Amino acid sequence: MKTIPMHLNVNGEDYHIMVKPNQVLLDVLRDDLELTGTKEGCGLGKCGACTVLLDKRPVHSCLVLALQADGCEITTIEGIGGKQLHPLQESFVEKGAIQCGFCTPGMITTAKALLDENPNPSEEDIKLAIAGNLCRCTGYHKIVDAIHSCTCESLKASKEGRDD
Ligand code: FES
Ligand code: FES
Repeated sequence: MKTIPMHLNVNGEDYHIMVKPNQVLLDVLRDDLELTGTKEGCGLGKCGACTVLLDKRPVHSCLVLALQADGCEITTIEGIGGKQLHPLQESFVEKGAIQCGFCTPGMITTAKALLDENPNPSEEDIKLAIAGNLCRCTGYHKIVDAIHSCTCESLKASKEGRDD
């Protein structure tokens, strides 16, 4: 099949690549760029395991044609924290919000988008934001708790607790 040139900025790095017209963003990230942190669950837009940020908004990358993302900025789980773990990643570990871990990259990228838009979401806001991300292991409570621990108010309260 004919391939078409495109440009992506992924986690701050520019990639000029050739893609097939029917190739989805998930496959480009995992197979061509070898960024395998983003997972493929259902491949049908139903589980959220493949969530990445496209121009800062969470999308199911299994449903986005790579060419639709031409010229866009993509953030995957590999780019969430930079060289150090992001507070969300630390919180997921501390709160036991990871079991098999398959949903975790998608959960964390979704949570990052939420907190970037609203630094103090309520528990209901968090549940609504992750409604498209399925977890078969944790029962969600610890995930909501982990995200809630990263709101501005919670981080401030825990810092004040440490300073006392
Ligand atoms: S793999 Fe994309 S939503 Fe399930
Ligand atoms: S930790 Fe296993 S699916 Fe969420």
